Amino acid sequence: MREPFRADMEAIRRRAREKMDQGAVTEAYKADRVQVIDVLNQVLATEIVCVLRYKNHYFMAPGVHGDSVANEFLQHATEEQQHADLVARRIAQLGGNPDLNPDGLHTRAHAEYRECEDLEEMIREDLAAERVAIATYSEIIRWLGDDDPTSRRMMEELLAKEEEHADELAMLLEPSKRRAVAAQKQPVPLVAAPSGGMSGGVNRGRGNT
Ligand SMILES: [Fe+2]
Ligand SMILES: [Fe+2]
Repeated sequence: MREPFRADMEAIRRRAREKMDQGAVTEAYKADRVQVIDVLNQVLATEIVCVLRYKNHYFMAPGVHGDSVANEFLQHATEEQQHADLVARRIAQLGGNPDLNPDGLHTRAHAEYRECEDLEEMIREDLAAERVAIATYSEIIRWLGDDDPTSRRMMEELLAKEEEHADELAMLLEPSKRRAVAAQKQPVPLVAAPSGGMSGGVNRGRGNT
């Protein structure tokens, strides 16, 4: 049996009124705040690079299977943007500055940005980036441990989604599974493509998102 929960409420209330300018960060915060903000800014850069890469792949997805795969790219781009927003909000909550400066974005990010001509190459590139994110986020989760449970929970949420993305991309590399995944997905409305643009070659006519 665990010890009953006890807390020195008088001390907690007194400390809560000290350093009020630190907002959500209290004495109970055990992590190195500056280091956590720095690591979260690397995650933020990673997510933004992933948004940009998926968007490029969405607009440039070529070939006969381009549409269903492009929808997958678009959905991933949207989810990576949600991740970026979550991370930026947490950085601000910790008293940091979400680093959205385009200068050095690529250097801060763990993932790479690569444009590809071929649909399979795009999927492979995205899968590699997801696997990099999965490995790094797992390390960050272990590193945070119990010192910052809120950031750790957020990173666990991101990790679960990146694993889902990787799984979906791996399935897209299998043509038979590709059809099954495409059938499960809600179609994302696209602006009508130029006539004859969907049956082959690179379709440069995708609509705005
Ligand atoms: Fe993400
Ligand atoms: Fe992802």
